[in-house]
Amino acid sequence: MNALAKTQQIEETVKNNPKLAYRKSTLFNDLKTKKENIAVVGLGYVGLPLAVHMASKFKVIGYDISEDKVLSLVQHKDPCEELASEEFTGKDIQFTANAEILKNAKFYIVAVPTPIDHLKKPNLTPIKSATASIAKHLKKGDCVVFESTVFPGCTEEVCVPILERISRLKYNVDFTIGYSPERINPGDTEHTFTKIKKIVSGSTKETLDIISSVYSEVVTAGVHKAPNIQVAEAAKVVENIQRDVNIGLMNELSQIFTALNINTKDVLKAAGTKWNFHNYFPGLVGGHCIGVDPYYLINRAKEKRINPKLLEQVREINEGMIKHIVFQLSKRLFTKRMRKEKVSILVKGVAFKENVNDIRNSKTAELCIELEKKGFNVVVNDYLVNVDQVKRRYGITVNNTTSEKFDAIILAVDHEDYKHLAHYDYLKNGDKETIIFDIKGDKKDKFPENIYMSL
Ligand SMILES: NC(=O)c1ccc[n+]([C@@H]2O[C@H](COP(=O)([O-])OP(=O)(O)OC[C@H]3O[C@@H](n4cnc5c(N)ncnc54)[C@H](O)[C@@H]3O)[C@@H](O)[C@H]2O)c1
Repeated sequence: MNALAKTQQIEETVKNNPKLAYRKSTLFNDLKTKKENIAVVGLGYVGLPLAVHMASKFKVIGYDISEDKVLSLVQHKDPCEELASEEFTGKDIQFTANAEILKNAKFYIVAVPTPIDHLKKPNLTPIKSATASIAKHLKKGDCVVFESTVFPGCTEEVCVPILERISRLKYNVDFTIGYSPERINPGDTEHTFTKIKKIVSGSTKETLDIISSVYSEVVTAGVHKAPNIQVAEAAKVVENIQRDVNIGLMNELSQIFTALNINTKDVLKAAGTKWNFHNYFPGLVGGHCIGVDPYYLINRAKEKRINPKLLEQVREINEGMIKHIVFQLSKRLFTKRMRKEKVSILVKGVAFKENVNDIRNSKTAELCIELEKKGFNVVVNDYLVNVDQVKRRYGITVNNTTSEKFDAIILAVDHEDYKHLAHYDYLKNGDKETIIFDIKGDKKDKFPENIYMSL
């Protein structure tokens, strides 16, 4: 059955179904008048800002499996440090780690992690388990919206069967679903939740209207109604894949230009004067989105016997940048004919990107490990991250009080303070002999006397 016929069949079912007809007229009003609750499941970088914004207009249950996290949120402390404590004030929200409370909701939003496993295949355990928690309390007329990033088809093929099996209710007869990907960019103070247009989709037309109305209450940038759930799921992975591919291209070019002894940044600056040249730069692609989401589509494509050559090669190029940096830096250091164990390297920043404390899939951490494996002495600075977490996850000790001289300083993560204090902070530790490896490649002018390297 094609997509249009499927949609028409669903619409017909809904039209003839009195239970869902009730919903059309009342669910949004019941949420708006706080007769019914919205539950947000998973209160991390995505779920918490979403729940708190929703709580400015609706009555919200914020549920997370982590009791520690809930304990902290009850005290208005965001462990992700995205929200200030005053942003919790006056919000109608109940934080809980008790899944039983989910029975009090009629509209659920799922924002749990969707990582990959060691084989780089989707790890759907958290989303399946969150769906099961909701399914146990699902009632007729309920609506479940998924925000977690997934491959196209996941919501309907993986989550819906769990909802049906556990609740014993029927999809698009007793309950409906939606998918609305999250596009926030933690650490970005300009593109915040309310200012980013929200893609919404629903399993029926009425559900799409309800979901649109709910999000429109809090997202001032408005909503984009996708024609179906798979389109919305695909749109999200494509946004991140486009960045991955473009950065991958820059990374490959950077390797070529390094071999040709040409400064990549200068090339891009010159090429960027053309009106239709797109500005992307080489760099490490870490974190839990751009470095992870492409694998969701790669695996889906392979299931459908499509060989996603470009996507896989890009992943390989981007993952290979750590080895490229280590090789280039080692080559330069060895011209000094120093013994490896005597070489000390300072790495500025270990979070996966600037101005966040998030260390998941940190390529800088992997870079430090790779440098240590080569026998170098590595010292790591990062004033934002939780040092215990870094130690637990990567075995790396963060030391923010270094004052010795270094043979090389890697400007890895461009946290705000590292930008402003560049002159004092880096140079007091080094001297003219210190090699500066600037991964972002935009601080050449700040180190006129040092050996300067970049991607
Ligand atoms: N962080 C981002 O920048 C970003 C941006 C867009 C989309 N996304 C996507 O949003 C989703 C969530 O990402 P995140 O960064 O907020 O993750 P996160 O790890 O910061 O937060 C997820 C939360 O879910 C909780 N959780 C895990 N399993 C649960 C369960 N079964 N029931 C209830 N709670 C559970 C965890 O304890 C954690 O607090 C992912 O799919 C991610 O790819 C993330």
